[in-house]
Amino acid sequence: MKLPPLKIRNLESKFPVIQAGMGVRVGNSRLAAATVLQGGFGTIASVGLGDIEKSKTDFVNESNRFLDEEIRKAREFCAKRSPLGVNAMVALSNYEAIIRQSVVSGADFIISGAGLPIPLPEYVGTADIAIIPVVSSGRALSILLNAWKRKYDRRPDAIIVESPKCGGHLGFTYEEIEKPETRSLEILFREVKDVLVNAGCPNIPVIAAGEIASRNDIEMALKMGYDGVQIGTKFIVAEESGLAPESKEVFVKATPEDVVVIKSPVGLPVRVLKTPLVERVLEGHKEKFGCPYRCLRTCNPHKAPFCIAKALLATWRGDYENGLYMTGCNISSVNKIYPLSDFFKSLEYGIRS
Ligand SMILES: Cc1cc2nc3c(=O)[nH]c(=O)nc-3n(C[C@H](O)[C@H](O)[C@H](O)COP(=O)(O)O)c2cc1C
Repeated sequence: MKLPPLKIRNLESKFPVIQAGMGVRVGNSRLAAATVLQGGFGTIASVGLGDIEKSKTDFVNESNRFLDEEIRKAREFCAKRSPLGVNAMVALSNYEAIIRQSVVSGADFIISGAGLPIPLPEYVGTADIAIIPVVSSGRALSILLNAWKRKYDRRPDAIIVESPKCGGHLGFTYEEIEKPETRSLEILFREVKDVLVNAGCPNIPVIAAGEIASRNDIEMALKMGYDGVQIGTKFIVAEESGLAPESKEVFVKATPEDVVVIKSPVGLPVRVLKTPLVERVLEGHKEKFGCPYRCLRTCNPHKAPFCIAKALLATWRGDYENGLYMTGCNISSVNKIYPLSDFFKSLEYGIRS
């Protein structure tokens, strides 16, 4: 089977692959640009950017400045090719500023989840930019479609469907996460497609996310009816990702037994490796931290057992004791640090990986 291209609005990639937005600084300008060059959609994660000291007094502007720099750097690395976009989490306190900056800095698309991105069309205005919400159920999609139609007369340009097996934050109950087969990509596809058909927009591309790490997995998603896939965990240890090599090695050495789901300060369950910080949190320990810039609307720093921004920055730096290592279920597909081109070659030539 030859893999088809992925077309979203006026954008097109050779392979039906979106590199997932991965914060903090995992999915940076280098990984996004490398993905574009290899024939996928490259995504810069907008969370946790900026100089930490400067952010303490001017969080919003410092984040914007860094995001602009990331987009410019990525454009330079990939010789101004497309599709290059930004991932923005609704839960962030500077969500609106990130969207407006992405438009000004010339992103081709915005992917937005970790909450329902109801005001997204308002923030992008009339800009020619693809907007792609992330959902985990037909019900969430239905609410979003109705709101966008009523308020802005706008439809999504594509939809990303995240399953309970995904990496990062999860839009599911703990019961659903324990029994992922009840909310499988196959079930979610039928649910989402029904909603699109009923809303009169059956042709909006639908993208599968969760546990996809090989050509075989992509073929399976396409057979279910998806138009493409979003891949996170497999790309964490690409040479081009932003993480310190020490942290990449932690992922490479991890086994499925090391993967747990805990409650995140974001207010959602989050899938992570059982590292020293997570062990402390599971034992009921509360880390000491100050909250200089309130990056999350949904976090109460007086009650949160740890600061997720600080923990993800620790991972980025390679600090195993204090880092939070977000992962998907398919950690066993992460078995060596590799150049991103190896993965895309396996799609081109049909080598099973
Ligand atoms: C390390 C890591 C960081 C992530 N960061 C974000 C993020 O900043 N924003 C977001 O919407 N999703 C984030 N996610 C979720 C991914 O965008 C993606 O949907 C998911 O990883 C797909 O599942 P997979 O990891 O099984 O491929 C993250 C996932 C991982 C593994």
